[in-house]
Amino acid sequence: MQISLDKQVALVTGASSGLGAAAAKALAAAGAAVVVNYNSHAEPAERLVAEIREAGGKAIAVGADVSKEDDVERLFAATIDTYGALDILVANSGLQRDAATVDMTLADWNKVIEVNLTGQFLCARAALRQFQKQGPRSWLSRAAGKIIHMSSVHQLIPWAGHVNYAASKGGIDLLMRSIAQEVGEQRIRVNSIAPGAIRTAINEENTQGDAEKKLLELIPYGRVGEVDDVANAVVWLASDLSDYVHGTTLFIDGGMSLYPGFRNNG
Ligand code: BGC
Repeated sequence: MQISLDKQVALVTGASSGLGAAAAKALAAAGAAVVVNYNSHAEPAERLVAEIREAGGKAIAVGADVSKEDDVERLFAATIDTYGALDILVANSGLQRDAATVDMTLADWNKVIEVNLTGQFLCARAALRQFQKQGPRSWLSRAAGKIIHMSSVHQLIPWAGHVNYAASKGGIDLLMRSIAQEVGEQRIRVNSIAPGAIRTAINEENTQGDAEKKLLELIPYGRVGEVDDVANAVVWLASDLSDYVHGTTLFIDGGMSLYPGFRNNG
């Protein structure tokens, strides 16, 4: 089945690399006009925009730090100025600042919470305001707007040495479900994707050589994920094919969240 998001407008945060870039590309390939948000890496974002345009798609790049309220307002204003509406938000921006809890600085705690959690709140709030303002666009989609939060298996799996990251992703779970409960009646659909180990820059070291072998012990399905494993799910969650999916987290992790340590009787 071909999924069409023709004439819909999608905003993807943190789209200059990794999961965000793949999601932006896949949404554009499905026909959506895409806003490629980046924070500090303008060049790869502009390259992605050029690539999407060469393939016949529509895209612009907009720089903004999702943890800053003014930046987020500017990002959404640029989206509406260019494309006139918003149908899909993929709140994807995220980072890691790893350390044992005893060594973790307040700055690194705050940075991760600000980008990964507050950033998702600010972007979701701006998207909801826009969805409410523009009203349903029923000729394009059954839902009056769709929000996809990028979470992680670590919204469920505790992660020693990464308490800021795990806390931010655990926060996303209840942020997403509370928003979904709040706006469901308005036919605004809100869901999360929880990727496991995906081959991206954020975990480049863990997905090569011996480190990859060790990682595979945690993945019952026996392979590291690729960005398209996640991007394909983003497109499906943004489409009417998932119209009855609301307030759910879709784990895309090759079974990482299945307590693989218990495979051999624990
Ligand atoms: C993290 C990766 C990690 C994966 C599985 C993701 O959320 O960003 O660094 O490999 O979870 O632990």
